[in-house]
Amino acid sequence: MIQNYNSQNPLPIAVLISGNGSNLQAIIDAIAKGLPVEIKIVISNNPQAYGLERAKQAHIPTHVLQAQDFPTRVDYDKELIACLDQFQPRLIILAGFMRILSALFIEHFNNRILNIHPALLPKYPGLNTHQMVYNNKDKIHGSTVHVVTEHLDAGPIIAQSAFAVDESDDPASLTAKIKQLEHKLYPHVLALYAQGKLDLHQDKVFYEGKLLPKQGLQLSF
Ligand code: GRF
Repeated sequence: MIQNYNSQNPLPIAVLISGNGSNLQAIIDAIAKGLPVEIKIVISNNPQAYGLERAKQAHIPTHVLQAQDFPTRVDYDKELIACLDQFQPRLIILAGFMRILSALFIEHFNNRILNIHPALLPKYPGLNTHQMVYNNKDKIHGSTVHVVTEHLDAGPIIAQSAFAVDESDDPASLTAKIKQLEHKLYPHVLALYAQGKLDLHQDKVFYEGKLLPKQGLQLSF
C-alpha cells in the first residue's frame, strides 16, 4: 500500500553500509534540510566503516554484523533480518553495502530494498564501473537507483542521472563526479517515495501511477 510521509510521520529507513558512507551522509544532510525520512539504524558488515562514525555523529543507532561470525550467508542474513525488524524500516537502503543478499533476505523485504549503483544500468553491473567507462571511452556516465532483486544490479530501475564524460576525465575524476551526483540522486528518490509517488515491484516501477520505462526516471541536477 502506498503511504505518504511528512515531518510528523517520517519515512522510516535502515541504511546498510560497508565503507565511507558518503551517500549515508548525503541522506543525513538532506534530512537536516527537511527530507521527511528517519534513519532508524545503520548496519555495517565492516567494523572500520567510516560511515559508522558519521551515523554516531548524527545520533543514529549503529550495529556491526561481521561475516566471519556466521557459518553461512543465510545465517548472516537471518540475523540481519532480525536486527532490522526490530526497527520496522519501510525501506532498506543499500549505500555501498558490499555483500550479496540471499533470496531469504530479498523475499523478506520484498520490493522494499533499494540500491545505488555507479553506472547507467544495465551497462556495467558489478565492480570497477569507472575504469570500464574510461577504458571504453564512453561519452556518458551516470548513476542508477534500483529495486534490489535476486539478480545482481538488475532489479527494476527507479531513476538514473547522467553526465557527459570529458576528454580529461580519468577513473578518479569520474568517481568524484559520480559521488556528487549520487548525493543528490539518492535523497531525491527517497523524497519521491516519501511523497507516495513511487510504487515498487520486482519487475516494474510505477511513478505517479504510470509504468516507468526500463531506464526509470531520467533526472538531472
Ligand atoms: C557508491 O558509489 C555507490 O554507487 C556504490 O558504492 C559507493 C558507496 O560510496 N554502490 P559511499 O560509501 O556512500 O561513499
